[in-house]
Amino acid sequence: MNRKVTVIGGAGNVGATVARAIAVKELADVVVIDIADQKAGGLALDMYQANPIEGSDARLIGGGDYADAAGSDIVVITSGVPRKPGMSRDDLLQVNYKIMQQVTEQIVKHCPNAIIVPVANPLDAMCQAVYRLSGFPRERVIGMAGVLDSARMRAFLAMELNVSVENIHAFVLGGHGDTMVPLPRYSTVAGIPITKLLSEERIKAICDRTASGGAEITKLVGTSAWYAPGSAVAEMVETILKDKKKILPCSVFLQGEYGIHDLFVGVPVKLGARGVEQIIQIELTQDEQAALAKSAAAVKELTDLIGV
Ligand code: NAI
Ligand code: 2OP
Repeated sequence: MNRKVTVIGGAGNVGATVARAIAVKELADVVVIDIADQKAGGLALDMYQANPIEGSDARLIGGGDYADAAGSDIVVITSGVPRKPGMSRDDLLQVNYKIMQQVTEQIVKHCPNAIIVPVANPLDAMCQAVYRLSGFPRERVIGMAGVLDSARMRAFLAMELNVSVENIHAFVLGGHGDTMVPLPRYSTVAGIPITKLLSEERIKAICDRTASGGAEITKLVGTSAWYAPGSAVAEMVETILKDKKKILPCSVFLQGEYGIHDLFVGVPVKLGARGVEQIIQIELTQDEQAALAKSAAAVKELTDLIGV
């Protein structure tokens, strides 16, 4: 294939799920890189051996050598420590910042033209670290969180209303943390706002469950989620590689949009071959704007702690 995606941390739960989704959908060749280099090689081989059955000609290789990543269109960063029960995303800050330093240096060296999709937590602060360390333009550093958070909200709405998940659009803005901002006014079922279909009480319960969706899985599984996060990254990769210009909620570097300056926060963006092609600004009520500002302030606390 003539497209190439590298997944750093690809021997881990989220990374391997991303690599497999890209291969099965035949979106690109995949390079799986991990400090667990043997495991990365083994998983890539296993995934490649599934391809004759899946009907995919995506090539997969794995190991620890960043030279293999050269020429990648997209580099996904899932290297990082995941949450354990009781841990917040923010507890991961210092340890994952060090990992971002190591991997970003390699990305700049081997893939200077790639679009980077950070996934490691705390997501928005890690995006900011990668953005500052790489020196890439803001269009080419796009964090994955909003696609996952809105998928969770869509799943909860589908359960509540007993309708197809495909009928549901959900809007979640803000940082990927407890302060994220689900927006019921802009969340719809077959075009009908959920505010017309559900009571305030049920909507609040669904929004609260969305905001703690990651912690719910962590408590049940013992580590953080990977299937829905992997699908979310794969949707972003597909949108970029196929230049689909889908509007998806992603963490991007805001420079005045939504009244937020010089900070990665989740907002709707148009994704295409050039990465972020447009930041979509929607009208917010005073309460919604205040909730978004609070969420941005929570991200800023973390970026200040690591000085990025
Ligand atoms: P995992 O522990 O299964 O995988 C992490 C992988 O990174 C491991 O294979 C490890 O060997 C590798 N790694 C660690 N340091 C490295 C380095 N310096 N260079 C290369 N590889 C390195 O963890 P999992 O569950 O895959 O989660 C990965 C990260 O993604 C975590 O920080 C987690 O919190 C985050 N996450 C973020 C989500 C989001 O919505 N943004 C959703 C789910 C997870
Ligand atoms: C999640 O939301 C832990 O950020 C990860 O599942």
